[in-house]
Amino acid sequence: MTRTKIKDLLNATDFGRQVTINGWVKTFRNNQFIAINDGSTINNIQAVVDFTNTDEALLKRITTGAAVSVTGTLVESLGKGQRVEVKVSQLEILGDSDPEKFPLQPKKHSLEFLREIAHLRFRTNTFNAVFKIRHALAFAVHKFFNEKGFVYMHTPIITGSDAEGAGEMFRVSTIDPDNIPRNEDGSINYKEDFFGRPTNLTVSGQLEGELAAMAFGEIYTFGPTFRAENSNTTRHLAEFWMIEPEMAFYDITDNMDLAEELLKYLIRYALGNCGDELEFLRNRLLEEEKQKPQNERSELDLLAKLQFCLENDFERLTYTEAVEILRNSKPNQKKQFKYLIEGWGADLQSEHERYLVEKHFKKPVILTNYPAEIKSFYMRLNETDEQGRRTVRAMDILFPGIGEIVGGSQREERLENLLGRMDELNIPAHEMDWYLDTRRFGSAPHSGFGLGFERLVLFVTGMTNIRDVIPFPRTPKNAEF
Ligand code: 4AD
Ligand code: MG
Repeated sequence: MTRTKIKDLLNATDFGRQVTINGWVKTFRNNQFIAINDGSTINNIQAVVDFTNTDEALLKRITTGAAVSVTGTLVESLGKGQRVEVKVSQLEILGDSDPEKFPLQPKKHSLEFLREIAHLRFRTNTFNAVFKIRHALAFAVHKFFNEKGFVYMHTPIITGSDAEGAGEMFRVSTIDPDNIPRNEDGSINYKEDFFGRPTNLTVSGQLEGELAAMAFGEIYTFGPTFRAENSNTTRHLAEFWMIEPEMAFYDITDNMDLAEELLKYLIRYALGNCGDELEFLRNRLLEEEKQKPQNERSELDLLAKLQFCLENDFERLTYTEAVEILRNSKPNQKKQFKYLIEGWGADLQSEHERYLVEKHFKKPVILTNYPAEIKSFYMRLNETDEQGRRTVRAMDILFPGIGEIVGGSQREERLENLLGRMDELNIPAHEMDWYLDTRRFGSAPHSGFGLGFERLVLFVTGMTNIRDVIPFPRTPKNAEF
C-alpha cells in the first residue's frame, strides 16, 4: 500500500479506509497511543495499537524518535484533541531509537540546547514550524518577482571584488599555507593561486546584479552571501541569504515602494499559507513571555504584530530628521545609549534604530539620505546642502525587534561622480572596469536593495536569535555540521 501523508489524513472524512503512514514516534502513551509525525504538518496523527494482540518485544521498540510504518483503518477519534486516528492492524519499526541515548525527549528543551544538536532539532515542533515558514517565504520571494516579470539572476559566489568596500571577506584560495609562493618583494604571488588572482566569497551580488539590470531592466538575486565580520550578536551570521533586486529606471522612491510592497507581500503570504505554524509559534511566544514581568511583554502577539505591519504605511523620514529625534530622545539625554548621538554625521547603532522603531514610531521605518561618509561608494550623491553636508540616496528599512532588515539605495549612475567616490575610498578603479562600463555605455538611473532573508524569517516567526532560523548557522568560532 502506498503511503499517505499525515497532513492529508488529518483533514480526511472517508472513515473506514485502509491507510499506511510512515513517520517518527513523538510519544507513546499507555502502551496504546502513538503520536506520529511525518513532517508534512506540524500536527501529529494518533495511531492506536491493540496491545493485547501485539508482541511485547515489538511494543518495547515503539520509542520516541523511532521511525515506524503503520497500516490500519482511518477512524473518527473519540478522544479529545484530534478528529481522526488510525486503528493499527500492522506495525513495522523502520529504524529503532534507543530511548536511553536519543537526546530529544518529549519535554521542553531550551533553544540553546537544541542549537547544539542542530542535526536533530528539525524534529521538534518549533523547528518544524520555523523551517516550514522559511520555505514558504523563500517560495513567495520567487513568486513575487516572477509575477512582476523580474529575471532571477545567479550572481557568482566566488568573486574578485568587495561589493560593500568594507573588507569583511573570506578569502578563497588553494595556496598551501605551509608553502606560500612569493614575489621577490616577499608579497604573496597570487598568479600561482587557483584563479591567478586574489578571490573571496561574495558579500553581495549587487554589482553583478547591476550589470544585468542594465540589460533586463528588472532582476533579482537570491543566494548565500558571506561576511567575515566578528559580530557575535543575535542578528549577524557569517553566512546568510540575501534577496537583492536591482531595477533600471527606478529612483529612490520607486525603490522604497518596491521594498515595502515586497515585505508586505511576504508577510501576507506567510499569514495565508502557514496558519498552523504561526499559531504554534504565537502560543510558544505567549508561554515564553509569561516568564517575563508585565512591562517587558510585547503589546501585540505574533499574529497581531504581522497584521499590524500589513495595515500600516511604513514611516519614511530622512537621516537628518531621525538624528534630531534621537538627539532629543530620553535615552540620549539621560545618557542611556551606549553611543550618544552628539550630532549630524554619527552612524546609527542598533540601539538607535530600535529606539526609533520600537519606542518612537512603533512601526516599521524607512530612513533615507544618509551622510555619504557612512555609506558605500556606489550610492547616488545628493546636492550638497547649505551647511556643506553631503548625503547619498540610501534607504534602510528598520523593523521592530530586528533593526535593519533592508539596506539599499539609488545608484550613482554618473561616471565622474562614481570615480570620485571610489578615489576617496581608495577603491582601485582599474580592477572595477567591468562595473564602470555600465556607466560608460548607456548609463541610466537605477536602484536596488538587499533584504536579509534570515532577518525576515526572524521577524515572521517571532524567534529571537538568528541562529534559530537558518538550519546550520555559521558564526565566529562555529561551523559545526
Ligand atoms: O546593508 P547591506 O550590507 O547591503 C548590501 O549588501 C547591499 N549591497 C544590498 C543592495 O543594495 N543590493 O546588507 C543588506 C541586508 C541588511 O539590511 C541585513 O538585513 C542583511 O542584509 N545582513 C545580514 N544578515 C545577517 N547577518 C549579517 N551579517 C548581515 N549583514 C547584512
Ligand atoms: Mg546596511
